[in-house]
Amino acid sequence: MTNSDFPGSELTSALSEPITVSWQSPSNIALVKYWGKTGRQLPVNSSLSITLSKAFTETSLTALPRKTKGSVDLDFWFEGTQNAAFGERMTKYLQSVTDIFPWLAQVNLKLETHNTFPHSAGIASSASAFSALALCLCSLDTELNGIMLDETEFRQKASYVARLGSGSACRSVFPGFTVWGKSKALTGSSDLLAVPVTEFHPVFSTLRDSILLVNKKEKAVSSTEGHKRMIGHPFAEARIKQATKNTADLLEALKSGDKKTFIRIVENEALTLHALMMTSDEGFMLMYPETVRIINRIQEIRKETGLDICFTLDAGPNVHLLYFEDQIEQVNKLIVEDLLKNNEQNMRIDDFYGKGPVKIG
Ligand code: DP6
Repeated sequence: MTNSDFPGSELTSALSEPITVSWQSPSNIALVKYWGKTGRQLPVNSSLSITLSKAFTETSLTALPRKTKGSVDLDFWFEGTQNAAFGERMTKYLQSVTDIFPWLAQVNLKLETHNTFPHSAGIASSASAFSALALCLCSLDTELNGIMLDETEFRQKASYVARLGSGSACRSVFPGFTVWGKSKALTGSSDLLAVPVTEFHPVFSTLRDSILLVNKKEKAVSSTEGHKRMIGHPFAEARIKQATKNTADLLEALKSGDKKTFIRIVENEALTLHALMMTSDEGFMLMYPETVRIINRIQEIRKETGLDICFTLDAGPNVHLLYFEDQIEQVNKLIVEDLLKNNEQNMRIDDFYGKGPVKIG
């Protein structure tokens, strides 16, 4: 599949009045991590994530009449104010997908977006932001050009388009568990777009994720920069092998309801991600002492109590505590009385297994 598999067409007649479409799209947290890319935003290894529920971006995209054709003309609003820095990334992205949506150069665009989670909380927002925008682009394509796709094709195209904005965003287009990147363990999986995992034990739909905030500052090294450090990384080959096996084993554990294997792989992936950062040519560390303290406590408590809890990390210092609905009360007590007891931020965001993006209006 290439961009030409999603042929775009220009508008045959000029737009006479504004058309707005809106989507709400959630964030996701990777359980097997995408780390390292090649070509036009293609992953070097397969990844597997869970789409969340409460942390989402709401985006409205309006196409307005325009007299002359030219480059992308975007009026960008983030959380109610015009934001030049974000606007620039969005404009660049829209310009890069004019081969799929040629009409982007024939209309003026207004993009309004806001998140349900605080922007300053250090929670990754590119996955929800780019998946919401990609869904809006595909919906506008239907409105403007009458391109009718069935639900499956529509989501596939949105995932493909989201990937071009931010790799992890392609996984947010689907509910629950999704895989991005070719894996022999999952039929239909692809480097070009994410696919939903349809076979999993019902216990995994009761998965919860409490994000324990450690530091809200902007990261010293962005994910995009981190991916670059995988080029020529001394452990690159071993990492690809490991991610391939972890994807296959995690898919199997999801299917059989094997929580112990789930916990082992999820923590292995989180620690590997950060180990790869530390051991890259220009090594860097995104964990804080408080991150290390919390993850040590999670492992100790699991041993002491037998609770089915584990942690994952994205490319930052905040800890995602994963657990299951049936232990919500014990875990809640644990967070308040132990994990966050002496934490300066004392802030958490409770999220859970999500049902995927929703079209608004
Ligand atoms: C550590 O998708 O944010 O969260 O493709 O450059 O936008 P770009 O990177 P991004 O990378 C996410 C990295 C990760 C792991 C993951 O989500 O799989």
